[in-house]
Amino acid sequence: MDFSRRTRLDLSANALSRALEARRARGEEVLDLTASNPTACGFEYPKEVLSALADPRALAYRPSPQGDLEARRAVMLEYARLGVEIAPEQIVLTASTSEAYAFLFKLLCDPGDEVMVPRPSYPLFDHLCALEQVAPRAYALRYDGAWHLDLASVRAGFASGRARAVVAVSPNNPTGSFLKRDETAELTDLCAAHGAALVCDEVFADYAWEDAVGERVTTVAGSVEALTFALGGLSKSAALPQMKVAWICASGPPRALREALDRLDLIADTFLSVSTPAQLALPAWLRAGGALRAQVLARVRQNRARLLAARPASAPWDVLHAEGGWYAVVRVPQTRGEEAWALELLSRGVYVHPGYFFDFPTEAYLIVSLLPEPALFAEGVARIAALISP
Ligand SMILES: Cc1ncc(COP(=O)(O)O)c(C=O)c1O
Repeated sequence: MDFSRRTRLDLSANALSRALEARRARGEEVLDLTASNPTACGFEYPKEVLSALADPRALAYRPSPQGDLEARRAVMLEYARLGVEIAPEQIVLTASTSEAYAFLFKLLCDPGDEVMVPRPSYPLFDHLCALEQVAPRAYALRYDGAWHLDLASVRAGFASGRARAVVAVSPNNPTGSFLKRDETAELTDLCAAHGAALVCDEVFADYAWEDAVGERVTTVAGSVEALTFALGGLSKSAALPQMKVAWICASGPPRALREALDRLDLIADTFLSVSTPAQLALPAWLRAGGALRAQVLARVRQNRARLLAARPASAPWDVLHAEGGWYAVVRVPQTRGEEAWALELLSRGVYVHPGYFFDFPTEAYLIVSLLPEPALFAEGVARIAALISP
């Protein structure tokens, strides 16, 4: 039986996931410092989150490709909160940010076209691109005490003539770096000059916890110089990944924007993937978002402070500077490889991700989530510190 090339993905388990599975099968303790599912991290969810699902209007099905108007108006208010005026016609609801990427790659790319993606970044891009028969082309983020976007590598990426979009993630997972005003202006100019779109994943935009290095951009929504798609979603902004609602906010030169929205409408109409109860509940979930964001932000700040405090002044490891998000990048000695560090930590009951999962171009980095419950996080961090700076 022949299957499609787009599903020819390497699904074999790596040494770390095999070791994790074996450890769990033996019933041994695992302090999971990769946990980033907020519904499993001890946050308190307001009762409105569930009661919003009991709307009697959910018994009727009135499909609307871009999404229910009230729901899109509620998203519009989210942008107003960020200081940007958006019309509901610019919003398209999707079931997840992953689906938003899939819709946009269908909109923008023919098979074999390229999409530029940051490196290091979110590990799902390879799969999202492969499933749409699009080739990811990495551009670099560089660290010199702070993260910067390497615009020369974006310019070089356009040389192939096949790049249809530049994806930015702000703040980026896992580096926690925001796009800056000058970087965004350059990206927009490059996209406009090459007839490409700017896609900015802003799912962590509400989680800024450190002073900005340079002028931080909270959202690219509303930008009109190039065709621009800002992505947001409930999974991070309201800590509700299980509700499966995300959105695309489109803006740009009027003719290109009109055509993009018409075509997105067609794509969304083919799937109609956001459920009616979720669309009706969205305004209430977004209102509840503030209380949840406050809890999550307090947690990530507390855990990051704990991580920084665990490092003795002369330790051979450090925590890279970051401005926001849910993760921390720990730079560890190159005396062994990342996977060896992660395996050794796992043998001591602590599960962390090696940097290569996120496409760090050099070794050795470990990535920890800042979401776990503080007592568990503190114990995990103490064991990391004991191993690396005994
Ligand atoms: C940068 C980034 N975008 C999107 C997502 C996932 O969002 P969704 O659950 O809406 O697909 C994640 C999840 O970790 C992420 O890190």
